[in-house]
Amino acid sequence: MRIGVLTAGGDCPGLNAVIRSVVHRAVTNYDAEVIGFEDGYAGLLEGRYRSLDLDAVSGILARGGTILGSSRLQRDRLREACENVQDTAREFGIDVLIPIGGEGTLTAARMLSDAGLPVVGVPKTIDNDISSTDRTFGFDTAVGVATEAMDRLKTTAESHQRVMVVEVMGRHAGWIALESGMAAGAHGICLPERPFDPADLVKMVEERFSRGKRFAVVCVAEGAHPVEGSMDYGHGAIDQFGHERFQGIGTALAFELERRLGKEAKPVILGHIQRGGTPTAYDRVLATRFGWHAVEAAHRGEFGRMTALRGTDVVMVPLAEAVTELKTVPKDRMDEAESVF
Ligand code: F6P
Repeated sequence: MRIGVLTAGGDCPGLNAVIRSVVHRAVTNYDAEVIGFEDGYAGLLEGRYRSLDLDAVSGILARGGTILGSSRLQRDRLREACENVQDTAREFGIDVLIPIGGEGTLTAARMLSDAGLPVVGVPKTIDNDISSTDRTFGFDTAVGVATEAMDRLKTTAESHQRVMVVEVMGRHAGWIALESGMAAGAHGICLPERPFDPADLVKMVEERFSRGKRFAVVCVAEGAHPVEGSMDYGHGAIDQFGHERFQGIGTALAFELERRLGKEAKPVILGHIQRGGTPTAYDRVLATRFGWHAVEAAHRGEFGRMTALRGTDVVMVPLAEAVTELKTVPKDRMDEAESVF
């Protein structure tokens, strides 16, 4: 068996753990050969790949990013790839492709699979927004980073009697904001799933200060929007990958709160810090298990599917099921954190 592996889309802590696990299982148990395409689907289309043996993946378990590089795929290039899948498989002699990626990567994987390429997907994203899997690796690391940042911001906020508005990642799904906000005890959480009214945040801050509290922390997902007409903030244009170009809700909200409260409010944009660096133990384990199960599925010839976590079990689910809709934060999870919305 010859396996092609690639990492595509935004990177995420744990990608190297999957690559390592795929190579270990494939080489050690099935005497298979693994090649890694560079920079996502671009490497597949341009014939850029390298051989991955045990030495090549030695020491990468705890390393963030991806040793293979990553990139987002433009739609017209995907069409090109689908038209040529048979040639691609023949050219590289691969029996199966294991693409590791988020919603865009898995949608492309599904299209390649429908076009006839044997594919086994592995879901990743710090956003935790892939349907059909309870968790994606990278999410735990991102939540940890954001939680620690808010813990730290609380002490400096209190010293200066400030409001800190902490913007975290999450375009359509507010999982990072929800869980890091809960873990850090943020006083307000704003998610893409539910428009927020700045007047509620103003009330919350005023109430805190009236009780003698000297600071407040608001955690806002980058994709959160205010209730229509409640403050000056619009929807951004759509880029070439179909993503909204955000206007900077953290900064806009801090400005708005400062104006309305007459108190200092500082924006802190965590950005790619959430995606960089070493994965947590949880993410390393999940990524390793996903890699192991992907090779098992490839060995069984179970194509057009991806690994998924259900409870504590790793199962295989159809790619089609995984990419039909994003997993957003449901109302009951928001209700649990109600006091801070
Ligand atoms: O999808 C993962 C993600 O980290 C989002 O949370 C974020 O909006 C996006 O990627 C950022 O992408 P880029 O690295 O292209 O700026």
